[in-house]
Amino acid sequence: MSDASAYLQPLLRLKPRVAVVLGSGLGAFADSMDDAQVIPYRDIPGWPQSTAIGHAGMLVVGSVAGVPVAALAGRAHLYEGYTALQAVYGVRALHELGVESLVLTNAAGGVNRDYKPGDLVLISDHINLLGQNPLSGPNDPTLGPRFPDMSEAYSKAYRAVALEVATQMGLHLREGVYAAVPGPSYETPAEIRYLRAIGADLVGMSTVPETIAANHMGMKVLGISCVTNHAAGVIDQKLDHKEVIEVGERMKSTLIRLLRDICVKL
Ligand code: HPA
Repeated sequence: MSDASAYLQPLLRLKPRVAVVLGSGLGAFADSMDDAQVIPYRDIPGWPQSTAIGHAGMLVVGSVAGVPVAALAGRAHLYEGYTALQAVYGVRALHELGVESLVLTNAAGGVNRDYKPGDLVLISDHINLLGQNPLSGPNDPTLGPRFPDMSEAYSKAYRAVALEVATQMGLHLREGVYAAVPGPSYETPAEIRYLRAIGADLVGMSTVPETIAANHMGMKVLGISCVTNHAAGVIDQKLDHKEVIEVGERMKSTLIRLLRDICVKL
């Protein structure tokens, strides 16, 4: 057992079934849980600390309409200096504690010209441009196979659940391919044209390591991007992290409702 799960197991009052990783500005989901237990990342052995603006840095375990859920408010990014392996530490620990379903949210730039800030997009697939893979190095066969299949990295069944929930809410969810880049500089317009040419609809700096590690362990993954801005060069405007946070804030209540309803149906 990892140091984190050995620390958490006797501490937690609930055994979480679903984990939700919350992206920039999206931490408020954790506030909506019942009987919540809040554990700061700094208290959990081995857990990477989040240093990014808009990332709280705490694990919140509680109940969402009766379903035991672990919310990760804050994640480790490669641009903070973490490796892809460090970025998946939490997902691996939660899997050890019994979590089988992983919901990953993020803020992303809209590469697809049809996307607007404020759109919510289901991730249908990804392109790993991080230059790193969390599974590099010796394989631990107790976690999963050396060469894990990634042909349905984002569960079709979970996407169908999310679409159904969204329709009931009267919410239009799109589907698209997420390209992960290391950052922290935003892309150049030429890089965005390249990403569009290779089939990306969204660009961001997270999510892909967690998806790879989860698939390795046989977990099912749902990915939801909040389009916080047009990617570079799509419109004649500079990118500003403040805009990313603001749009995340504006979408908070919609995304929380969506996440809550999804958690109950996974
Ligand atoms: N690029 C990369 N990451 C992002 C962006 C972007 O435009 N917006 C939010 N995260």
